[in-house]
Amino acid sequence: MLAGLIGKKNADNAPIEAISPAPEKTDSLIRLRKIIKTYYTAAGDFMVLKGIDADFRRGEFVGVIGKSGSGKSTLINMITGIDRPTTGEVYVEDVAVHLLSESEMAAWRGRNLGIVFQFFQLLPMLSLQENVMLPMDFCNVYESRERPERAMELLKLVGMEDHAHKLPSAISGGQQQRVAIARALANDPPIIIADEPTGNLDSRTAEHVFEMFEKMVGQGKTIVMVTHDIGLAKRIDRTLLIADGEIVNEWVFRIMPQLSHQQMLHATRELEQLVFEPGQVIIQEDQVGDNFYIIREGRVEIALKRPGGDDIVVTRMGPGEYFGEIELLKQSKAIATVRAGEVPVKVMSLDREVFMALMSESEPTREAMEHIIHLRMNENLETRKKMQ
Ligand SMILES: Nc1ncnc2c1ncn2[C@@H]1O[C@H](COP(=O)(O)OP(=O)(O)OP(=O)(O)O)[C@@H](O)[C@H]1O
Ligand SMILES: [Mg+2]
Repeated sequence: MLAGLIGKKNADNAPIEAISPAPEKTDSLIRLRKIIKTYYTAAGDFMVLKGIDADFRRGEFVGVIGKSGSGKSTLINMITGIDRPTTGEVYVEDVAVHLLSESEMAAWRGRNLGIVFQFFQLLPMLSLQENVMLPMDFCNVYESRERPERAMELLKLVGMEDHAHKLPSAISGGQQQRVAIARALANDPPIIIADEPTGNLDSRTAEHVFEMFEKMVGQGKTIVMVTHDIGLAKRIDRTLLIADGEIVNEWVFRIMPQLSHQQMLHATRELEQLVFEPGQVIIQEDQVGDNFYIIREGRVEIALKRPGGDDIVVTRMGPGEYFGEIELLKQSKAIATVRAGEVPVKVMSLDREVFMALMSESEPTREAMEHIIHLRMNENLETRKKMQ
């Protein structure tokens, strides 16, 4: 039904000026570059975002998670232009959002972004239908005679058409959030930015609202959603974890979820980016290993030496998988050779000292690693037996 509502814009919907001088060529729809945000308060200067680089692709559903006060709202307010970076750049398509004047910003936002807040923020004196029409009246994207009907279609989309003439105070929080979503869709924006849209809802209503977001992504929208709900976050394409104003490397928090956010941040800062050419050996069987590796792109081959001298590839690993932990934790020589597959392999590496410090600081992480090591060593033994 949403698809049917797309594409009815009138000729007024011309592109906004403020084109950046030379936007870099990327696939990303939203690009944040070196964003620093400092609040200057009586109590002193407070750097809330500490040099954030982030990209959001068209059609992606990205969750932003992190502890209270870590900078999630500040980050997404940079995209909506509700707040501006102290330094750094924000591009949405070719628009340099950080350079827009206030009036350009309001016009651009109205046409390109749908914003959903935790506390709905419907205007209390207007009916639900009028609330949904408001962004249309402001942006002039749709002809005025079309607006009431379009508002009704959007209310229908969120299951609220029977309440169209009520005031916000006459409906529940969950219903208000549905109307807020209808309002966010008013001008058919390509991007939805939501700050804890389910934060104030019971779990069943939160589920409904979340399903609405999933549907919108299915219909081509790009969504960035702050959430505290880890269950929901797991169902999102990609999650951006913010700790203390910095982005934690996604693989670090997926691979070692038991680390504290501070420890994840430490690991992120210590990661070294390396590239291995096809066939290049990363770890040599029977030699001492000094690093823990996480694969970012490409595949590696795990090979075992045969009694005769040559080796046999027993398995392959790809992005998000890791190796090198056995040699470090067991203080043993490598039980297999790991080498780059057919295309160059990009990996991130932690050195022995950093990796071992994390393992000793986080017992649960060490236990989880030991468990994987146990499985891998058993598998290795089994394979060797078969090879004899
Ligand atoms: N206008 C402001 N002036 C001074 N400090 C601010 C301002 N806005 C936010 N902060 C501070 O910046 C930090 C990050 O705030 P932000 O609202 O981005 O956190 P958050 O991750 O969204 O937290 P929550 O989960 O509680 O919503 C907090 O310590 C907050 O107190
Ligand atoms: Mg917040």
